Amino acid sequence: MPIIYDIEHRTFKLDTSDSSYIIKIYEENYVLNLYYGPKIPDTYVPDRECVCPNASFSPANPVIGEHGFSPDTAPMEYGTFGAGDFRISALSVKNENGDNVTDIRYTGHKIYGGKPGIPGLPSTYSVDGDGAETLEIYAEDIVTGLKITLYYTVFENTGVMTRRVKAENCGKDPLVIERIFSLCLNLPGMDYDLLSLYGRHCKERSVERRPLSHGVQGVESRRGASGHCQNPFAAIVEKSADENGGEVYGFNFVYSGNFSALAECDHNHTTRFLMGICPENFGWTLLPDEKFDTPEVVMVFTTGGIGEMSRIFHRFYNNHLIRGKYKDEKRPLLINSWEAAYFDFNADKLVDFAKEAKKLGIELLVMDDGWFGHRNNDKSSLGDWYVNKEKLPGGIEALADRVNAEGLKFGIWYEPEMISPDSELFREHPDWHVHVKGREPMLGRNQYVLDFSRRDVRENIWEQMDKVLSTGRIDYLKWDFNRNIAGAGSAHLPPDRQKEFLHRFILGTYEIMERLVTKYPDILFESCSGGGGRFDPGMLYYSPQIWASDNTDPIERLGIQFGTSVCYPASSVGAHVSACPRTGYKTKGNVALWGTFGYELDPCKLSDNDKDEIKRQIKLYHETYDLIRRGDLYRLVSPFENPYRAVWQIVSESRDCAMVSVVTMRHEEYPHLIVRLKGLKEDSLYRERESGRVYSGALLMNAGINLTYTANSDGDSAVMFFDREKSGRRE
Ligand code: GLA
Repeated sequence: MPIIYDIEHRTFKLDTSDSSYIIKIYEENYVLNLYYGPKIPDTYVPDRECVCPNASFSPANPVIGEHGFSPDTAPMEYGTFGAGDFRISALSVKNENGDNVTDIRYTGHKIYGGKPGIPGLPSTYSVDGDGAETLEIYAEDIVTGLKITLYYTVFENTGVMTRRVKAENCGKDPLVIERIFSLCLNLPGMDYDLLSLYGRHCKERSVERRPLSHGVQGVESRRGASGHCQNPFAAIVEKSADENGGEVYGFNFVYSGNFSALAECDHNHTTRFLMGICPENFGWTLLPDEKFDTPEVVMVFTTGGIGEMSRIFHRFYNNHLIRGKYKDEKRPLLINSWEAAYFDFNADKLVDFAKEAKKLGIELLVMDDGWFGHRNNDKSSLGDWYVNKEKLPGGIEALADRVNAEGLKFGIWYEPEMISPDSELFREHPDWHVHVKGREPMLGRNQYVLDFSRRDVRENIWEQMDKVLSTGRIDYLKWDFNRNIAGAGSAHLPPDRQKEFLHRFILGTYEIMERLVTKYPDILFESCSGGGGRFDPGMLYYSPQIWASDNTDPIERLGIQFGTSVCYPASSVGAHVSACPRTGYKTKGNVALWGTFGYELDPCKLSDNDKDEIKRQIKLYHETYDLIRRGDLYRLVSPFENPYRAVWQIVSESRDCAMVSVVTMRHEEYPHLIVRLKGLKEDSLYRERESGRVYSGALLMNAGINLTYTANSDGDSAVMFFDREKSGRRE
């Protein structure tokens, strides 16, 4: 029973394999968060009810106790605006009187097995044997009739919890939600660091760690997408925690639009953490009887350090977020035309690519941007999703047939949420792009954004896509999104609902994505946004892989892939070998191997030597496919800490095999490097595949291996394997 209700103390205890979370229904039905941390047997933590006596300037509810109860000094489970809690609020709702005072109190609860989905939104799901149970706590503001449901699901056997919120207007007057976070958490003390993933186009998800200090701090996106600049991930990390140990709270928002992940350290030196839709330019009108569901937050607590947090996220996303045929089935090895040809291709050229690719062992050809309308550069045709007959005279079907005849599957690129001013669609519907009254819309990469909050707009794009996909010739679809949204607004929404637009836009995108994966379950979907500008769990729900970055330089990719791996599994990380000149094909392959793996180059231009190397790496790709996708990752030497070498290790679930990859970014004069392996069986023997040398697991994990002379020149790399001896234990 992962969720227990202790009637005597009016507490809920939510357990995963490694953590406990305790909620208290306090006097006057205030809901308090008493504990989140290492697993404990108790169901009640009395000492955590109030952090300290009321501060004189924090008003108190006089009905409780001798000095009253101050929500400002209590660990409020879901802090609301205007009711005596002055920390950043999770909820602020404007009522009919025009004020935003919101005071919610417990009215009831429900506990049940499994996990419900969220209408219109992506979410993690329960599978057999994960021990999932859900708690719904109901709370109400009696003045306005606002009813809040706090949802908690614990996946007992995974170390993961999820949280989200539903608001319902049970009153008689309209309400306007001005902020509604999915998660509010209070931690005692403030001796923590905040870990986050920042970046930009071509340098996504660099790891940043900073101490928390008094006041509000955090990361946000206001771009209309989760974005390149900050990922919707954050962790609150105990000061002494590192890759290999220490208390870590990891949070990831299952959403692809604007978000906030905020921490506030208050005058009592406690920490509040919030995650949810960014309140800036957000608002949602709830008429009587209407409901609003927030997206969910995935929460991981571990004492095993940042590395263990990552592994918990990886396993969880592989099993409880990624869906469909390619969750388990082997994905075809692809070659993409973008870096090989950009807009300069025709059917014959693509068929030549397919011919050569087949000889190398590649299984699918993706025709990237430039196949539709009259698109020969990025200045036109988005929105005109019919074939460019000059480039592909026989249309998609004829091309797909020719590619299939060469023995390859066929894939295609779309950017459905966009419209070029130079397009038939724009000429027909000059009001379908995102814009606000009286202002010239801004261009980004020469394009506007389509108003996906509108059903008619979505329907048009759906029909155009459906026409192509229903030919049955498409095996793969890359969904791109190549600019962010300025001038956010919809011609279809009244003035007092314009702040709903950005969320409605994301809901519209999700609706089309859901329709696509439902109608076309055999298509492999990959999402993309100028590389990794929408690399988030919301997208992963619809596409099992996401193009991680437009930067395919393997040395630059190290930082991008190390950072991405903090939260996301290798199975999801779009990584290709390209013609980028910085290193040879060996290193390009060794880096791309730690991802979905594929190619992004002109196969007709390869030298014989390069072709041999590519055939060798494709063999390695097949041999390591399951290991990399299902294995446990250990970041042994991070490029964020060591400017010379990067080392990572993947251990099979059975711990029978470990793969160690080392890349030299820059040769160092005295490059002493001894690395301790992780995650092996101490008392087993492991044979290094190339040298045949046998080591105990204990030795490998304590004394380590000497990589000083391994691949130690600029841009060189190596992959080593350690196989567990069948004889098993050391005598
Ligand atoms: C984005 C993607 C690239 C490619 C181009 C096409 O930048 O990240 O992979 O698809 O768009 O315009």
